[in-house]
Amino acid sequence: MLFFKPKKAPVKGAVVLITGAGSGIGRLMALGAARRGAKAVVVWDLNGEAAEQTAAEISEMALGEAGSGRQIRASAYTVDVTNEDAVVAAAREVLDEYGRVDILINNAGIVTGKPFLETTGAEVQRSFEVNTISHYRMVRQFLPGMIARDRGSVVTIASAAGLVGVPRQSDYNGSKFGAVGFAQSLRQELRHMGSRVHTLLYCPYYISTGMFEGVKTKFPLVLPILTPEQVARQVLDAIEKGTQFKVHPPIVRLVQILQAFPVPFMDAIVEFFGVADTMDDFTGRK
Ligand SMILES: NC(=O)c1ccc[n+]([C@@H]2O[C@H](COP(=O)([O-])OP(=O)(O)OC[C@H]3O[C@@H](n4cnc5c(N)ncnc54)[C@H](O)[C@@H]3O)[C@@H](O)[C@H]2O)c1
Repeated sequence: MLFFKPKKAPVKGAVVLITGAGSGIGRLMALGAARRGAKAVVVWDLNGEAAEQTAAEISEMALGEAGSGRQIRASAYTVDVTNEDAVVAAAREVLDEYGRVDILINNAGIVTGKPFLETTGAEVQRSFEVNTISHYRMVRQFLPGMIARDRGSVVTIASAAGLVGVPRQSDYNGSKFGAVGFAQSLRQELRHMGSRVHTLLYCPYYISTGMFEGVKTKFPLVLPILTPEQVARQVLDAIEKGTQFKVHPPIVRLVQILQAFPVPFMDAIVEFFGVADTMDDFTGRK
């Protein structure tokens, strides 16, 4: 079939697993999923305390709604998504407890923000491990169940940095381009095999979570620094609508068109929009 659409993945009644949900947009997506009626929200983070905190907020929400008849379960797992054994063991626990994962959101991410020559080999390795390789590892755990049920959703939180190169992001850019490539291949492969499992590739511009503290934007009206609340809502809306690729703000998609032009032209446009300067005052999370 030429125009093939995957099945929509309603959040209501779903078991939702989010990596890196101890803070930032991961935490807000977890709370949002609970608010939208998820059956269970599984919070994974390297920072166990932060994961517990998010799960506790969801449980409090459930208590606040006592009598509404709605049941939301939340559980927190301390997992380093770069650790194969830890991921496999935690995934088994989740499947034992809930029987399935309907929506998997690969959200955990890190940034160094250093000029290329100051970035160590170990840092490059870690960026790729967290921002790219972990997606392969996570999807391997939960996709077989989704394919068997012919429903579910795999969400890749990539970045506008997965579409265009920026100074001081050699490791981040490379790893996010990798995540974009993985998500595109996965989408094509599922379609090719006739599976109606949904995938969403989400590429946002900078978000004010603290991860990119210090970044600046030249034209805030066209290239605004996004709020985490707006981004979390957008991702959940996109999952529910069955959207497969979303870039925000939409003007960032221009970079894909610019790729077709000679490099000096493309680079001049990127420079004009101030994208090459965005990282000049980057400090990141302290
Ligand atoms: N903040 C931005 O400007 C921005 C822009 C585009 C895309 N993104 C992407 O959005 C996602 C979320 O970013 P955020 O802004 O909410 O950042 P954040 O730092 O608030 O959240 C990232 C979370 O990932 C967790 N994490 C890091 N390494 C991990 C590991 N090895 N195992 C498990 N968890 C780990 C952290 O503990 C943290 O809770 C990331 O993938 C990021 O690359 C962020």
